[in-house]
Amino acid sequence: MTTDRHDIAFTLNGKPYERTVDGRLLLSDFIRHDLEFTGTHVGCEHGVCGSCTVLVDGNPTRSCLMLAVQADGRTIETIEGLTPDSAPLAPLQAAFRKHHGLQCGYCTPGFLMTATALLRSGEHLSQREIREAMSGNLCRCTGYSGIVAAVDEVMNGVGKTDAV
Ligand code: FES
Ligand code: FES
Repeated sequence: MTTDRHDIAFTLNGKPYERTVDGRLLLSDFIRHDLEFTGTHVGCEHGVCGSCTVLVDGNPTRSCLMLAVQADGRTIETIEGLTPDSAPLAPLQAAFRKHHGLQCGYCTPGFLMTATALLRSGEHLSQREIREAMSGNLCRCTGYSGIVAAVDEVMNGVGKTDAV
């Protein structure tokens, strides 16, 4: 009988982990069910909605399209990593709240992780460009304007870019 178990070592939100995982286990299920970081949400489970977005080595990644075994040697960041040790809201989270960039909140962790990578890039984008850069994440509630305004505020300061 063959086994399909793999030893992996990785960093999650700044802390080292070692685990043994099934070869077919999705990263999204691993993060939520095994590691109990349930801030990462699962929507479509086939790479469309972006709600499961985490950062892998700094790059926004759909965790429903990646296997847990592929996390070996990688650095993973989830929404919980934005506020380590239950710190107050990160500036990006506070901006989402201020600009009503969320309603039900289901999509929000994915948007925040995508936006975090965008902000780290150091680029200064217009609202139109921010909207384009975030277009891989879907929201059924907000109409996106508040999300774009929140990212714009953190990236450029209030009112520095064109309206959409
Ligand atoms: S749950 Fe992964 S993209 Fe929708
Ligand atoms: S806030 Fe409900 S899906 Fe985006």
